[in-house]
Amino acid sequence: IGAAIAGVLAADGAHVIGLDVPAARDALDATMRQLNGTALAFDIAAPEAPAQIAAALDELGVDIVVHNAGITKDKTIAKMTDAAWQSVIDINLSAQERIDDALLAGGILRDGGRIVAVSSISGIAGNPGQTNYATSKAGVIGRVESMAPRLSARGITINAVAPGFIETQMTAKIPLAIREAGRRMNSMSQGGQPADVAQTIAWLAQPGSAGVTGQVVRVCGQSLIGA
Ligand SMILES: NC(=O)c1ccc[n+]([C@@H]2O[C@H](COP(=O)([O-])OP(=O)(O)OC[C@H]3O[C@@H](n4cnc5c(N)ncnc54)[C@H](O)[C@@H]3O)[C@@H](O)[C@H]2O)c1
Repeated sequence: IGAAIAGVLAADGAHVIGLDVPAARDALDATMRQLNGTALAFDIAAPEAPAQIAAALDELGVDIVVHNAGITKDKTIAKMTDAAWQSVIDINLSAQERIDDALLAGGILRDGGRIVAVSSISGIAGNPGQTNYATSKAGVIGRVESMAPRLSARGITINAVAPGFIETQMTAKIPLAIREAGRRMNSMSQGGQPADVAQTIAWLAQPGSAGVTGQVVRVCGQSLIGA
């Protein structure tokens, strides 16, 4: 999904700065090379990451921040370890907050800017075996609602996008029967594509979406899961 977002924003004329973990550096470099973008390799969960990201972006500033990085560590609540709970909340939710704090405090995200955070339909209705993930993604929705009024004086909007089942490496890991249910139980009877999510994010990143803030937009084809 991140590569699709980068592709759509670059096609819309943005200079894209793509971020991924150091272990994904080669793929990140290749994607950014294709888009004439810039690659940043950081683990967003590292305590020093927000300051390092802010330092890397300080000179040029940014107009659009997309929080897309996310992980799953699915287990029923009885089998969920503290570590699996904490790491999912930290990467999917708290890291976004820390990074925004650093970008906003330093004036790196310019006035009139855009923040778009990737949530999930799991964050709207929950999902069995995904208590940690659903909590983190519900937190993303709460975060954009609570931040929107605070950012409005600077003309910055903040919104969330909640994808349903999208065909990616993340959903390829889901057991077959559940995967097929996720694919088919929506009005379009198929899985979504990363480009579907990317196009919605690009709309929220445009100047013309200035009247939309604090919202969550579902990109799920009326999925019954998460309804
Ligand atoms: N695929 C779906 O059906 C679906 C549905 C709803 C929401 N989402 C959300 O969309 C986003 C993208 O998901 P995807 O399906 O492309 O998953 P993916 O696993 O293919 O990609 C996730 C990316 O995040 C990066 N990442 C993970 N931890 C990181 C960290 N600590 N620091 C920096 N980068 C890190 C990974 O390296 C990877 O490139 C996630 O937030 C996910 O929760 C996906």
